[in-house]
Amino acid sequence: MADVTEFQDRLLSLGLARVSEAAALASAKLIGRGDEKAADQAAVNAMRDQLNLLDISGVVVIGEGERDEAPMLYIGEKVGTGNGPAVDIALDPLEGTTLTAKDMPNALTVIAMAPRGTLLHAPDVYMEKLAIGPGYAPHTVTLDMPAAARVRALARAKGVAADEITVCILERDRHEALIAEVRSTGAAIRLITDGDVAGVIHCAESEITGIDMYMGSGGAPEGVLAASALKCMGGQIYGKLLFRNDDEKDRAYKAGITDLNRIYTRDEMVTADVIFAATGVTQGSILQGIKIEGGWVTTETILMRSKTGSVRRMIYKSPMK
Ligand code: FBP
Repeated sequence: MADVTEFQDRLLSLGLARVSEAAALASAKLIGRGDEKAADQAAVNAMRDQLNLLDISGVVVIGEGERDEAPMLYIGEKVGTGNGPAVDIALDPLEGTTLTAKDMPNALTVIAMAPRGTLLHAPDVYMEKLAIGPGYAPHTVTLDMPAAARVRALARAKGVAADEITVCILERDRHEALIAEVRSTGAAIRLITDGDVAGVIHCAESEITGIDMYMGSGGAPEGVLAASALKCMGGQIYGKLLFRNDDEKDRAYKAGITDLNRIYTRDEMVTADVIFAATGVTQGSILQGIKIEGGWVTTETILMRSKTGSVRRMIYKSPMK
């Protein structure tokens, strides 16, 4: 008989896909309705309900926020039936709340699960991120390199000219200098308005998405989710926490982080095997968005396991409720 306390990633993975699907289905009717909060809340409720059906002793380590600011799926919340392996859960019930409210591309529901104590407890601060897809030698690009040097190094490793590289960056005022430096190399930039988990995942399927590298700062929790995805798909990601004030530093200390200047590699953010599921909400380049047609709703979910490198894409169709 299977040991119920062992992290049975194969058995748990299909359950994880349902959790991700449920959150997406709940937000379906709120796509394009201009109400970010309602869309997020619907996804949170559904994700939590579905997660609590799983036979796990789960703890949310990346969630909706600190307990005092998020009543559900807060950091430290226990989830699951309690009958099963001790696991860490990283989740974002709706990654791209604004994308959903405005019906713009690449909003996803995202969840990752790994044995207890193996996902970085990243506080809700910014993280400087740098990611590339699989097939490159370790440290082909690093956070210590200036942005232009990263483009040139990746172009050399790929065997192309710098102007054949495409970099994905969040469109923010804080990235003005970064964008100018990348442009100075001749590289193309795909600017995104939100959703850097999807931005990073794009690097792992560059032949489909056309994106070679992700750069810039965004949420640290999203960094751990992106690292979980790349651990399954292959690819490298580096992350450095960024602090704007003492309160943010305190959040890190509370999460058990002592070296505030540390650069984390993918495998330091996710130290053991992980399973990852994401469901498309709005139409995207990695996943189809939710479709509602003739009383039916259809979703597409990607489900991956780092142990085997398996990637499953699942289309789910059910009567619209
Ligand atoms: P939400 O879905 O929580 O709105 O996050 C969207 C997002 O774009 C993330 O993907 C990204 O990491 C973060 O916001 C960037 O933060 P900011 O908007 O402050 O630059």
